[in-house]
Amino acid sequence: LLHDGTYYWYGTHMHENTAAALKGVGVYSSKNLYDWKNEGIALEVFPEGSGHKIESGCLIERPKVIFNEKTGKFVMWFHLELKGQGYKAAEYGVAISDSPVGPFKFLHAGRSCSGIIPMNMEASVVEKLSSSLNLKARTPEWRAAMKEGLFVVRDLGKGQMVRDMTIFVDDDGKAYHVFASEENNTLHLAELTDDYCGYTGKYVRVLPGRANEAPAIFKHKGQYWLIASGCTGWDPNPARMAVADDIWGPWKELDNPCVGDKANITFDSQSTFILPVPGTKNKWIFMADRWNSKNLKDSRYVWLPIEFEKGVPVLRWYDSWNY
Ligand code: GAL
Repeated sequence: LLHDGTYYWYGTHMHENTAAALKGVGVYSSKNLYDWKNEGIALEVFPEGSGHKIESGCLIERPKVIFNEKTGKFVMWFHLELKGQGYKAAEYGVAISDSPVGPFKFLHAGRSCSGIIPMNMEASVVEKLSSSLNLKARTPEWRAAMKEGLFVVRDLGKGQMVRDMTIFVDDDGKAYHVFASEENNTLHLAELTDDYCGYTGKYVRVLPGRANEAPAIFKHKGQYWLIASGCTGWDPNPARMAVADDIWGPWKELDNPCVGDKANITFDSQSTFILPVPGTKNKWIFMADRWNSKNLKDSRYVWLPIEFEKGVPVLRWYDSWNY
């Protein structure tokens, strides 16, 4: 997050042998993106045994913070998994603060948009898929139904699953939550309310059945670009890319933006965010995690410039680079 000339970098405070949040979401600040100051824990988890949704030992992944001009609050969204339940809960969490370094106050957590059909799904499909809920998994029939929105229908009552996620704020100040849903099979893009603290209920499915995670979005010359990864846990895989003229789609998938050695594993990393280059227009930094699954707290980061060839983003490895 860039705010008043300072960058803030948020992330789960990780440990050697667990991905669980034992402390909370950490934050660092910087004036130049090179030198970082540890600002401590921005959102603290609740003590073990408290039974709170964000009790110590829960999973908090991919936190993103945006500033709301109207309320003057900093709003944090994150992927939340409840303590002791693995990746089953698949919830979002929201917290707010008066300061970018916190303390953030937990507001609420849950599934998204319960009872609401995506804008790009017909009511008649819902009816049809309701009778397909018992299809045997991984069969061609199941695959076709899954692409059409089988899991949307299954989860209409309790709300849609939320896993890997990002927040994107458009030029008009509208914010969107983009997350892996439907058992990680399909991304959802959901509009946030004016205070950025909840959903308006408008949402679409993006690239159904492509199993994208780790989404990152940027708007370049009027077009929306999405870079994401496939689903291979902490291990890297080839990045995916899609483009749309309208945030609501249709989204068109293109090739892996990476070229050269190790392009097939995104230079040993996984997308996490795309940052505008300070003081420039239309220049971007691709930010990615290089996970160390054997010692998560020793994971590293890969930042690369986004180049454009014939108007299409390209990522190349550079040992060092500047703009
Ligand atoms: C990754 C995902 C991470 C984390 C991990 C757990 O694919 O991007 O956020 O959930 O799986 O294995």
